[in-house]
Amino acid sequence: MTPEPSALPDDLLAPDAVRDPDAAAAVLRAHDPVHWSAAHRAWLVSRYDDVVAAFRNPALSSDRVRPVMSSSDAPSDDPTQRILGLMSEWMVVTDPPAHTRLRRLAGAAFRQQQIAAMEDRIQALVDELVDAFVADGGADLVAGVAYPLPATVIAEMLGAPAADRDRFRAWSDELALVAFGAGGDARADRHERALRGLEEMVGYFRQLVALRRREPGDDMLSAMLGDDQDGLSDDELVGMCALLLFAGHETTTNAIANAIRLLTADPALRDRVRDDPALVNPAVEEALRLVGPIKVLVRWVVEDHELRGRTIRRGERVYLLLNGANRDPERFPRPDAVDLARERATHVAFGRGIHACIGAQLARIETRIAVGTLLRRLPGLRVAGEPAYLPTIASRAQESLPVVHDGSAVGSRP
Ligand code: HEM
Repeated sequence: MTPEPSALPDDLLAPDAVRDPDAAAAVLRAHDPVHWSAAHRAWLVSRYDDVVAAFRNPALSSDRVRPVMSSSDAPSDDPTQRILGLMSEWMVVTDPPAHTRLRRLAGAAFRQQQIAAMEDRIQALVDELVDAFVADGGADLVAGVAYPLPATVIAEMLGAPAADRDRFRAWSDELALVAFGAGGDARADRHERALRGLEEMVGYFRQLVALRRREPGDDMLSAMLGDDQDGLSDDELVGMCALLLFAGHETTTNAIANAIRLLTADPALRDRVRDDPALVNPAVEEALRLVGPIKVLVRWVVEDHELRGRTIRRGERVYLLLNGANRDPERFPRPDAVDLARERATHVAFGRGIHACIGAQLARIETRIAVGTLLRRLPGLRVAGEPAYLPTIASRAQESLPVVHDGSAVGSRP
């Protein structure tokens, strides 16, 4: 029976929706795929075809920080406003033509980095982390491996000295706190500290930019300096460094942790993937589809339009439910099952269209190497208990992933 709209699980922060976001998305997708949520004051779009079309719809804008800034009455030198000012220039929250230029310059720097050539280095980092994890009698896979790996990779990619790696991790947390936690609440004090930390980050990146202007290296920051008039300004470079850290850290941490959680829940599947390295890629793609790090992306409506008979009006917000799209039975037969023979990469875990994840190749390499290595080196790996997801709309994240495994680690190299 079709539930009344009022009974639909349209508060994505309700405890049941946080615990099982896919069950909530399934009900919405089946009963009201373009649903107005009073709780979020936003349209929830949950079908695969609609989400894919939305990525290409010019009536939906990515420019979503500037409206928040302009609606605030805080002075422009207020620390929150200053940090939001930095974020408002990030390419992920801009529309063409500003986006086109930033994406072109960042894309060229990514290509120049030859991400595929980073595999050996990433394998060595993962091995180091797993060695330390086992030596410490580690129990939390997030703290031990999934969390430190991506921050280190980004720090190295930007050409920051190894000694500064830990600071990257702290700044990444602070960015997340400001980006997701703005608004002041019981954590106001942490928010203040985060802002001070971010000011330090801006100062650090400014110095790094100045250094690379004087002495370019073969790192990504040097590649982004550009040699023509259209190159990135110092402010833009600082913003780009912060964006890469923000976009590439927590997401990859969650990709690794969520994949391990999914694959170890079924010991037969876990052992099959462990014993056949060719299955690691499809297993990671299924994990990205089924338990992807980003559940929801937000767009602002800049033009009235119709969708499945609903009128979506200018000034409203649309939430694209990536987790709804990725389990849509119209697109994926047996949508809730892990199927290692599934047609590859038609999921939307990395978005689509002009903003499609620019770090997807790097993220896939990191996740595959981490997942493959953990399954191989920690036999019998399984999650202890039922870790809770954090109550956030956008990300599928757990603070920790307690695990157990059968005895000591195996080998250190493939
Ligand atoms: C598994 C890990 C990752 C996932 C699931 C992920 C997901 C996404 C998604 C869904 C978008 C589209 C956002 C939108 O349309 O509004 C995006 C954009 C972006 N991602 Fe990723 N990402 C991951 C890792 C990375 C990494 C490692 C980097 C870089 C080091 C990165 C850098 C970016 C950037 C810069 C953008 C903005 C692109 C643009 O606006 O043109 N991401 N990512």
